[in-house]
Amino acid sequence: PKERPLAGLSAVVTSGPTHEPIDPVRYIANRSSGRQGHAIAAALRDAGADVTLVSGPVTLPDPQGVSVRHVETAAEMLSAVEASLPADIAVFVAAVADWRVAAESLRKIKKTAEGPPSLALAENPDILATIGHHAKRPGLVVGFAAETDDLLANARNKLERKGADAILANDVSPEGGVMGGSDNTIRLVTADGVEEWPKLAKDAAAGRLAGWIAARLGRSVRK
Ligand code: C5P
Repeated sequence: PKERPLAGLSAVVTSGPTHEPIDPVRYIANRSSGRQGHAIAAALRDAGADVTLVSGPVTLPDPQGVSVRHVETAAEMLSAVEASLPADIAVFVAAVADWRVAAESLRKIKKTAEGPPSLALAENPDILATIGHHAKRPGLVVGFAAETDDLLANARNKLERKGADAILANDVSPEGGVMGGSDNTIRLVTADGVEEWPKLAKDAAAGRLAGWIAARLGRSVRK
């Protein structure tokens, strides 16, 4: 039926930032609010999918009718996503930290006369790229590209490199107010080309993505 085009399908969505611990009281984080990812989880649920939301630390309530896994770090997020496979649809919205602190201190780092400590960083796993090339790869894999420069070139590059079927590119220049804000202007990049979406509230953008996914999977019913 038109109202629940994704009925019978399962989806996994990542959302929010990750927190990478420095010591017991400090961490590295970013400005992601989780609003866009949580809205996408809710939109896929509304379209009838059985949704698992893997969320980093956010202040948003858990969406109803969605199975939520709370994680802190990128490594935990990857494990929770892998545990949710197999799935038909995966949408990676989380702003995963690219780096973690190589050796987390188990004691609070103290100020000393020697001056500030230096933090050695280690690369985090790329969850989208891992799942995009996974033995249990979902049939449809969607990612985001939040960029301030060379939006489309970077999005096309991510599509290839990360094994995604679509990349939703959005401009996160500070003047746009996307990070933490309520609106998003998206360009949907696939192997077929680029679709420009108008500026939309994040929940409207989520609804439009759910509709696009249903159409792509041949699940939409025409009037
Ligand atoms: O490379 P970049 O971080 O711009 O890629 C963004 C896309 O990749 C988003 O879909 C994001 O959720 C995903 N990503 C990820 N794991 C990472 C980094 C990015 O899943 N470590």
